[in-house]
Amino acid sequence: MDYEKHAMSGAETIFALRERVKELTCLYKITDLANRNDLSFDEFMNMVLEVIPRSMQYPSSVTTRITFDDKVFASESLEVSDVFIATDILSNYQNRGRIEIFYREADGVEFLPEEEQLLKAIAQQLSLVLERKSIEENNARLQEQLRHADRLATIGQLSAGIAHEINEPLSAILGFGELIKNDYPLPEKAQQDLQKIIASALHAREVVRKLMLFSRQVPPKMMSVNLNKLIEEGFYFLENRCAKQNVKITRILDPGVPEIVADASQMHQVLVNLTVNAMQAMPQGGEITIRTLVIDDMINIIVSDTGVGMDPELLQKIFIPFFTTKDVDQGTGLGLPVVHGIISSHGGTIDVESTPGQGTTFTIQLKMTNER
Ligand SMILES: Nc1ncnc2c1ncn2[C@@H]1O[C@H](COP(=O)(O)OP(=O)(O)OP(=O)(O)O)[C@@H](O)[C@H]1O
Ligand SMILES: [Mg+2]
Repeated sequence: MDYEKHAMSGAETIFALRERVKELTCLYKITDLANRNDLSFDEFMNMVLEVIPRSMQYPSSVTTRITFDDKVFASESLEVSDVFIATDILSNYQNRGRIEIFYREADGVEFLPEEEQLLKAIAQQLSLVLERKSIEENNARLQEQLRHADRLATIGQLSAGIAHEINEPLSAILGFGELIKNDYPLPEKAQQDLQKIIASALHAREVVRKLMLFSRQVPPKMMSVNLNKLIEEGFYFLENRCAKQNVKITRILDPGVPEIVADASQMHQVLVNLTVNAMQAMPQGGEITIRTLVIDDMINIIVSDTGVGMDPELLQKIFIPFFTTKDVDQGTGLGLPVVHGIISSHGGTIDVESTPGQGTTFTIQLKMTNER
């Protein structure tokens, strides 16, 4: 009798040990996969899907489904059946998803309590790994933003140098051009040619002015500005153009926005540049919404459109001077660099979110300089 008892517990011990080994192998594999930098999130999850069945008693009868943040990953031959175990994936006490493991009903096998325990351990491990991954991704994004800001600062220095060097000869061309035009009676053909020289020089001066705005070489002329009023009144000439193109401008203005100390004409330029871009992104018509909002002591100006939108690759480049996707006569690629320069010189920030085919939202944040 005693002997039998002893034999039973020995088998149990071996079984428990085998389960423990499987559990550890599975958890180790998940951690191992998480440490691989060459895997995208989706690739990682799909490999986890392959690892889980191997820790079960009957791997060939198992199919698995993991739901995480509205994304679903499932075994290729997923068979949802009534024989299943499932557990939630919790992260920071929040339910982020669920793991479900099914046995094919036709195979007539059952889950063991130990497997349910293992599943809980897998879910815990997965949530730890995913938390770490999201922290890493966040860090990588911050690093990329820093690099982007760094690149823009370098380009800014270069632009400031070029703008300065070109400004002087340009002034000479314009000055002497005007002198010749006014002081000498020229044949008509020469008059026309001279006019072209002056027009080209004026165009170049405009480009230089924008480069200087981008590289913050134009100090803002600070005065008290009512942003809501600026938005209310500053668009009459644009509104006509918008109406012709079937674009509606809607303003949602927060009366709690205080007056700020800023350069009114530069702020106007910012709004015009963003609105013109929005309009150009909606050749078939659509809606532009300009909103002001005070959030946590910051003034937010939000310009959104229902236009073509931009993919992440395009978004990386939009603040770089001369980057444009428009035809030569449609854009110089200086609109957003100018906006960036002006907002930076006012101590503010600008952010953009965009979905191709749906639209774009630019969010400007400015400090409240005048508390009411
Ligand atoms: N609201 C928007 N929707 C979609 N794409 C946009 C939007 N705003 C900007 N872009 C993209 O960013 C690019 C750069 O914009 P930016 O205003 O700097 O230059 P531009 O409009 O091309 O020329 P410019 O403003 O000098 O006339 C645009 O060519 C366009 O591809
Ligand atoms: Mg533009």
